[in-house]
Amino acid sequence: MGNERRKLAVLISGRGSNMEAILQSTRDASYPASIALALSDNPEAQGLTTAKMAGISSVAIPRAQYSSKHEHEQAVMEEIDAHQIDLICLAGYMRILSSDFTDRYSGRMINIHPSLLPKFKGLNTHQRALDAGEAEHGCTIHYVNAEMDGGQIISQARVTVLPNDTADTLGARVLAEEHKLYPEVIRQLCS
Ligand code: GRF
Repeated sequence: MGNERRKLAVLISGRGSNMEAILQSTRDASYPASIALALSDNPEAQGLTTAKMAGISSVAIPRAQYSSKHEHEQAVMEEIDAHQIDLICLAGYMRILSSDFTDRYSGRMINIHPSLLPKFKGLNTHQRALDAGEAEHGCTIHYVNAEMDGGQIISQARVTVLPNDTADTLGARVLAEEHKLYPEVIRQLCS
């Protein structure tokens, strides 16, 4: 294996800004991983276009083309396995995964979530942090298991909540931290 880079699959459903941050890091020859596959359940995902333009194998596997969640997941797993992926990075992949899926990639699949888990699992995390009067907010990278946003925490980045923050301003500062944290955690896991 020697200096061979670890192969990443990045799973997205939309914008793909975290995928782009990872992609940017992989341009450094000393980075220990490269993106071998960008996969989306949404054929319209902006991130798929970004990946294609960067010459990365990009596939859309829309849920609507399969008669069940099980069959859809099987197709996604086949695609991942065909690329001999070392680490799966969920980056705004908006599907809840079955335990068949999470068990298969146990210890080899991570997710980024825009809150300081275990606080604020699920959606609308920035507004919920504001509503709860949190002094601090941030993002978490964790291993993925069958419990949504519930796997072992790997790393977190924090931001201070400011008096005039809206969900948008707070979310933008968290996102900037996500873009630093995700490539750094991948670097550590792949080194
Ligand atoms: C990020 O906020 C991430 O934490 C969450 O979904 C969002 C994805 O954004 N899981 P992007 O597609 O990476 O721009």
